[in-house]
Amino acid sequence: MVNAKEFIDKAIFEIRKAVGENKVISACSGGVDSMTATFLVHKAVGDKLIAVFIDDGLRREGEPEFVIRTLKSLGINTRSIDAKEDFFEIFQGKTDAEEKRKAFRDKFYKTFGKVTKEEGIRFVVQGTIKADVIETVKGIKSQHNVLEQIGIDPQTYGYGIIEPLRDLFKPGVRIVARELGLPKEVSERMPFPGPALSLRVLGEVTPEKIDIVKKATQIVEEETQNLGIFQSFAVLHNDKATGIKNGKRVYGNIITIRVVVSEDAVTATAKEIDYETLFRMSKRITEELPTVVRCLYDLTDKPPSTIEFE
Ligand code: XMP
Repeated sequence: MVNAKEFIDKAIFEIRKAVGENKVISACSGGVDSMTATFLVHKAVGDKLIAVFIDDGLRREGEPEFVIRTLKSLGINTRSIDAKEDFFEIFQGKTDAEEKRKAFRDKFYKTFGKVTKEEGIRFVVQGTIKADVIETVKGIKSQHNVLEQIGIDPQTYGYGIIEPLRDLFKPGVRIVARELGLPKEVSERMPFPGPALSLRVLGEVTPEKIDIVKKATQIVEEETQNLGIFQSFAVLHNDKATGIKNGKRVYGNIITIRVVVSEDAVTATAKEIDYETLFRMSKRITEELPTVVRCLYDLTDKPPSTIEFE
């Protein structure tokens, strides 16, 4: 169990030592990890911090507005960057999960390279946590925010990295977030991966596919919000299937619903959901999304699966 007060005092001391009189930016996607890391650094260095939200077009419905609004309400200097076109461009022609992950990672760090140059900054804060490092180092998947731990020097991108949460797992991050007094919508937020919906579109990522998975995700999150689960989302398949809409054959999309229970994301169990809820999700997804003709439920635990499909 984390002693949050001690952790925060030590982290503030170390952040001040690392940053000195310099300015620093924080990569803030809006997830509980990056929000907590950002707020911690803000507590340590105040206005020397600029929180940067990259709008890569891959976020959930309403997410960019939520993140900017929340950061500003916490009194943090905030900058939003519209990088939608840049990000969609890197996915063109890429269908392999690791290839997509590495392309995202590279674009992510390059985008911050640009910002650090513009702002004359030497350090970027990230919300990397222990589970991210473990999965990447083990070679299971290349998490978007892990570099140094796999031997890539972040100075290749022109800056150093500060990771105040690197020794914590998710439950520890939440304890720290609560102790820092962050609003409940942040401290209790469902985990959401940095590469966002790009991990939930199988095969090539396009704006049209992101739009479908975004709407399906919203339905799944709405319908599962009171189930006490770790994570829930929708995944759009690359393959198609035959279905019927308005009495006509449609060769349409397939969506899988994934709902898991977990402590720290290192292992997870597929949630046993009542049939009524499952059926309602399937009905809403196939009715509210014109191209979707089939809806599946993922019964697999981690291991042998991972939580995300990619
Ligand atoms: P997996 O799919 O590895 O996911 O079982 C474990 C947890 O990590 C999240 N995840 C990521 N988070 N960058 C992140 O910030 C990533 O690249 C990434 N990949 C997976 C996932 O949503 C789950 O909570």
